[in-house]
Amino acid sequence: MTETNKKRITLTGLREALPLYSFIRPYRLQYGLGLFFLLGSSLANLAFPKLLGELVNAGNAGNLAENINRIALFLGALLVIQSTFSYFRTVLFVTVTEKTLADLRQYTYNHLIKLPLRFFEQRRVGELNSRISSDISLLQETLTSTLAEFIRQVIIIVGGIGLLLYTSFKLTLFMLAILPAVVVLAVVFGRFIRRFSQKAQAEVAESNTIVEETLQGIQSVKSYTNEFLEIGRYKHKTEAIAQVGMKSGRYRGAFAAFLIFGLFGALVTVIWRGSILLAEGEMAAGDLFSFVLYSGFIGGTIGGMASVFTRIQKFLGATEDLFAIFEEEEEQLHDLSENTSIHPLKGAIRFDKVSFAYPNRPDVDVLNTIDLTIQPNQMVALVGASGAGKSTITALLLRLHDVQKGTILFDEIPNREIPLSELRSQIALVPQDIFLFGGSIRENIAYGNPKATEEKIKQAAQNANAMEFIEPFAEGMDTIVGERGTQLSGGQRQRIAIARALLKNPKILILDEATSALDSKSEQLVQDALKRLMYNRTTIVIAHRLSTIKKADMIFVLENGQLVESGTHEQLMLDKKGVYQKLSQLQKMDNE
Ligand SMILES: Nc1ncnc2c1ncn2[C@@H]1O[C@H](COP(=O)(O)OP(=O)(O)OP(=O)(O)O)[C@@H](O)[C@H]1O
Ligand SMILES: [Mg+2]
Repeated sequence: MTETNKKRITLTGLREALPLYSFIRPYRLQYGLGLFFLLGSSLANLAFPKLLGELVNAGNAGNLAENINRIALFLGALLVIQSTFSYFRTVLFVTVTEKTLADLRQYTYNHLIKLPLRFFEQRRVGELNSRISSDISLLQETLTSTLAEFIRQVIIIVGGIGLLLYTSFKLTLFMLAILPAVVVLAVVFGRFIRRFSQKAQAEVAESNTIVEETLQGIQSVKSYTNEFLEIGRYKHKTEAIAQVGMKSGRYRGAFAAFLIFGLFGALVTVIWRGSILLAEGEMAAGDLFSFVLYSGFIGGTIGGMASVFTRIQKFLGATEDLFAIFEEEEEQLHDLSENTSIHPLKGAIRFDKVSFAYPNRPDVDVLNTIDLTIQPNQMVALVGASGAGKSTITALLLRLHDVQKGTILFDEIPNREIPLSELRSQIALVPQDIFLFGGSIRENIAYGNPKATEEKIKQAAQNANAMEFIEPFAEGMDTIVGERGTQLSGGQRQRIAIARALLKNPKILILDEATSALDSKSEQLVQDALKRLMYNRTTIVIAHRLSTIKKADMIFVLENGQLVESGTHEQLMLDKKGVYQKLSQLQKMDNE
């Protein structure tokens, strides 16, 4: 859980929360009606002590049973009104909140999924996710209960004090002289305790992190025989929790004692003073009764106000966080399923003096003035040492990032002039680290083209040499792939990803180390299939094993972000001092 930051309640803070109103706006009538019911039930609430007091007065004065019954009936009617009102208030507020939240959730997700990759690289996605869900549930709490509670509290405190003054001016003044001091002390003390218990919670969260991380990484813990180290770490943490917990218990005990002594003491003093007024005939018994009820009411409400304030502060913090995300600029995407006509690419690619640095490391040029040309339907290879910038080139082709200098052109059209969704829909990438979704194998392959027929899916799996391991599974294509595809081996995952890319039937196919986890035999099979499929499309292959790219039409050799050599295998092998020659020599040595 991430802790939402609190924000001081200021006018600017409140104004910043105003955009939220646009989400409530469609339901403002219902919300207004809810507020009306809230107002009604709060006022009815306020009338109770007064009427109860009158009931006592009537009994005390020996009034006719008829009178007493009338007041009681009136009270009964008021109860009916109040309960009905509070029912409708709750239903209305919940309805508005749920609808608003559904809108807000959709808006947030729609926005988030359209943000550029850069946004996600600068944040931890897990944290982002839990932050957003906790922010949204905070908004939910505020809209359904906190705001209503705050309004009710204001009505009760203001109205209550008014009624107290009306009931007995003298006693109210007496009470106001002692009670605020006690309340202020209680609030300050209460806040101190809350801060302390937050500290305790943080300690608990830290200890949970130890459990979570070590259980998730249990393989590493065991293979490094660090069980006892972790036991010690956890022991240390849990003991710290116990210490903080006990300390917080002592504070809470003291707080309870203070509350009993202070608040009830103040109440006793007020009643003591009231009894004297009663004896002197300045006050009726029923009035004293309703006075005490009001005081309890108001006292309780003031006590509850502190927590409402904290929640409003958190609410302001949460809206601020959320709206900060809303201000991030989206990619210009459009829905291709809606019969839009796509301008087909011919498959020519040209890099014109492209330089690129990742946005989170702007001072390091990962690619430096790259010039390269790929003809339509060529099969080209990118080679180079680890970190040379090969995968970065694939990311730029998909326009997951934009280049800072130079231009990338498709069919001689600068990529910025091609609608983003159109461009991406014609390129398929089998990335270096493959991500499979938690569904079935079929769903994972169909992700390449959700409209594909069963026939096509099977065909793609066949071409990727994946059928060989899918068929023996009891569930076949319906086999559920574990969370992040853990039940499958690295090579099996690669073949599913290749099938997915083939199903997309792209004009440009990029294979980033796509067969690196396969044994030589499977690799050969996949290569053969790919060779057939490379017909009529541009294929870019990245491979460390140079044997797989010997037949490429063109090989580009990268070193430290620069294009140092290019040519066919034969041409590159001629340069005895070349980088390619060196790489090739090293691999020969490995194989011997
Ligand atoms: N998202 C990123 N943010 C910042 N720097 C990155 C990012 N991805 C890669 N880099 C850096 O860019 C450089 C090139 O990385 P790239 O992944 O393109 O190398 P590569 O040639 O594909 O290497 P490998 O053969 O190991 O896959 C590396 O120095 C790497 O640290
Ligand atoms: Mg790479």
